[in-house]
Amino acid sequence: MVRKGIDAHGHAIVGFRDGWRGPLENAYDELTIESTRGILPRGGTILRSSRTNPFKHDAGPERIAENMRSLNLDGLIAIGGEDTLGAAARLHGEHGLPVVGVPKTIDNDLGGTDMTFGFDTAVQIATEAIDRLHTTAESHNRVMLVEVMGRHAGWIALYSGLAGGADVILIPERPFDIEEVVRLIRRRHSRGRFFSIVVVAEGATPREGTLERSESARPGLSPEVAAGSGGKDEFGHERLGGIGQLLEREIGARTGYDTRATVLGHIQRGGTPTAFDRVLATRLGLAAIDAAHDRRWGVMPALIGTRIELVPLGEAVSKLRLVPPEEYAAAAAFFG
Ligand code: F6P
Repeated sequence: MVRKGIDAHGHAIVGFRDGWRGPLENAYDELTIESTRGILPRGGTILRSSRTNPFKHDAGPERIAENMRSLNLDGLIAIGGEDTLGAAARLHGEHGLPVVGVPKTIDNDLGGTDMTFGFDTAVQIATEAIDRLHTTAESHNRVMLVEVMGRHAGWIALYSGLAGGADVILIPERPFDIEEVVRLIRRRHSRGRFFSIVVVAEGATPREGTLERSESARPGLSPEVAAGSGGKDEFGHERLGGIGQLLEREIGARTGYDTRATVLGHIQRGGTPTAFDRVLATRLGLAAIDAAHDRRWGVMPALIGTRIELVPLGEAVSKLRLVPPEEYAAAAAFFG
């Protein structure tokens, strides 16, 4: 993005620091070909990130507009998931700011695009973890549970579970029945397989009335967060966690099988990106700088099939891309 913006279009480019905090507080660095050299194989962001929501700050949109004016900026390219791009869409739609969005989240849950960058890397890491957990599962006759990220959407769980040969996959889109999970694991045992792999997305929940999700099942969380009464980030999200431990306890108690949980956490969001993600990020970046150069504001470059196309940003963020029931049902052929 920077290279094409400078070399092909003759733009000067600044990078705002820490997500929306940067444009709010006018915290930025100039981005040059030299300063962005060599970042392709690195994960994360050299600009850093935050959970700052410009709409939760006094005169947030006006301050951003003013800071953009003071820097003489033609436009703003926002890179992120539902929260970052949701704010970008509102800044464009409600305040008329010249914005282009770029779809980036490991969760893969943004509308308007077939895939976000970051997802492929997360799936790769989770699959590798499942492969490694197979060793202990198989040699020690254990039920090994892996908790992966995915607040609203179970894409990482579904794809890594399929790739890693999971025996049960639990996703937020489909509340689970613990008795059904236990039945599938027992069925494996009755067929002579004395170990199981269960992949669960952090946002998976028990079907109503089937299992109590108590505070103690969410270790490491402050009581306010665990109770869901506070401690939310500026986009209203609680810190998730604890479903792996809850299932470890319940499956162990109900089956009598030795059950262990591994919470993959931020390991799946870090380190070297896959080649696919590097190429996707590069293609989206090139399309974003071209769109900005052409002053096509309020759009998002998206992967549609194998092509990169510009889609309306407002539409892309209006609906989360969830795992369709038929895709989950297809994976269920391998359960138990
Ligand atoms: O939004 C992406 C995501 O990876 C979610 O899947 C996860 O719930 C969240 O980020 C974790 O964020 P944090 O690092 O702030 O705890």
